[in-house]
Amino acid sequence: MMDEHRVSRRALLQSAAALAAAPLAVRAAAAGAAPAEPFTLPKLPWAEDALAPLMSAETIQYHYGKHHAGYVANLNKMVPGTEFAGLSLEDVVRKAKLDSPLFNNAAQVWNHTFFWQCLSPKGGGQPEGRLAQAINKHFGSFAKFQAQFTDTALKLFGSGWAWLIQDQEGRLVIEGMPNAHTPLKDGRTALLTCDVWEHAYYIDYRNARAKFIEAFWKLVNWETPASRLA
Ligand SMILES: [Fe+2]
Repeated sequence: MMDEHRVSRRALLQSAAALAAAPLAVRAAAAGAAPAEPFTLPKLPWAEDALAPLMSAETIQYHYGKHHAGYVANLNKMVPGTEFAGLSLEDVVRKAKLDSPLFNNAAQVWNHTFFWQCLSPKGGGQPEGRLAQAINKHFGSFAKFQAQFTDTALKLFGSGWAWLIQDQEGRLVIEGMPNAHTPLKDGRTALLTCDVWEHAYYIDYRNARAKFIEAFWKLVNWETPASRLA
């Protein structure tokens, strides 16, 4: 387990492709005494100004450096000494009560780590290969998929996430989920996500969520869903 921990950490620090393939959890200590702060903030897969001007360094400094880091800090206050101590991040998300403070913080750590992997300074364009075929099969065309995902992200009321999900039967579905909800909770595979909490776009786009979603499509890293597609 400790080797797995090291491999996971190393992978998180390597290329975007390796990031996409790696387990998302920064695992809690497996054997022996759990460290006081078992969860750490994974490094970003790119420099904090790499997505500018579509997503500014200031946005990343707040979104990653304040919000994402804050969820990690909260989680580290909640988990030690409880039945969740020693669990992987994924297992905390799966086992915590939906919408509880523990679930909210654990899921937000996972969701944000995944969101960064869905963005790349070399992103944009359209998927290729098996992912393109799967999207065409389940949505009719890339344009229809993109329109449905955009509509879902745009119309999600309040804070939440737009997801492209592969369910247990292999189907691809698009869902908007409120707050910290995540397909990880019910055992489905997250392929792609867009964070539509206001903190994701208010610095760069103020209240114009639609402009942020346009930027998302110019930054989307297709390697992540391609590597996770079953
Ligand atoms: Fe966020």
